[in-house]
Amino acid sequence: MKEIIVSPSILSADFTNIKTAIEEIENSGAQWIHCDIMDGVFVPNISFGQKMVGDVRKNTKLVVDAHLMIVNPGRYVEEFAKNGADYITIHYEACDNVSETLSLIKKCGCKAGLAIKPSTEIDVVAPFLDNMDMMLIMSVEPGFSGQKFKQETLGKMRRFINMRGGRNIVIQGDGGINGDNASTIIGAGCDCLVAGNAFFKSADKKQTVARLKGLI
Ligand code: DX5
Ligand code: ZN
Repeated sequence: MKEIIVSPSILSADFTNIKTAIEEIENSGAQWIHCDIMDGVFVPNISFGQKMVGDVRKNTKLVVDAHLMIVNPGRYVEEFAKNGADYITIHYEACDNVSETLSLIKKCGCKAGLAIKPSTEIDVVAPFLDNMDMMLIMSVEPGFSGQKFKQETLGKMRRFINMRGGRNIVIQGDGGINGDNASTIIGAGCDCLVAGNAFFKSADKKQTVARLKGLI
């Protein structure tokens, strides 16, 4: 069986103590670090920008996974690439030149991700399948950590398995994922689980990551 990737979101960490948060992620068995970039326009919240991604990059060898919840993300792709993001994910709803932006991400040497909100149908991503390395299916409204997982998004994960065919595209679930619902989400086809609150509120992070991977 393939190993599930866990990508803790530092949005739920103490921003005055990111170095400790990175160490906790490294010691937990998680493989990626999820950075939620919010502009206060595409989503109501404002989080942090490319400098945080650069500072995370300097402090880890783990995969740096940047989720851009910003309008016209193409404006910032080169900045995030320069700051060391491995994956750059843009939102379908925030971008009117999705193909070009995915190509730009790849041209900058990064893996390209495409995200959809819970209300967006999965079929809209069909034209971009040959141009993307990751499909991020949001299971909460983007903007805040600590929300409840929306069960109705599981169908999109299952459907994407067929859409993907033999292509090498990671399916990432993001929002409200925890040790209790992880096995259902893995069962629906996710390869990578983002966890904000479930990770940072946990006292035993190794055990939480093992549960998120479906190992215990
Ligand atoms: C929401 C973000 C998520 C969020 C996950 O807009 O994209 O990555 O931080 O946090 P939890 O796991 O607490 O829902
Ligand atoms: Zn995210």
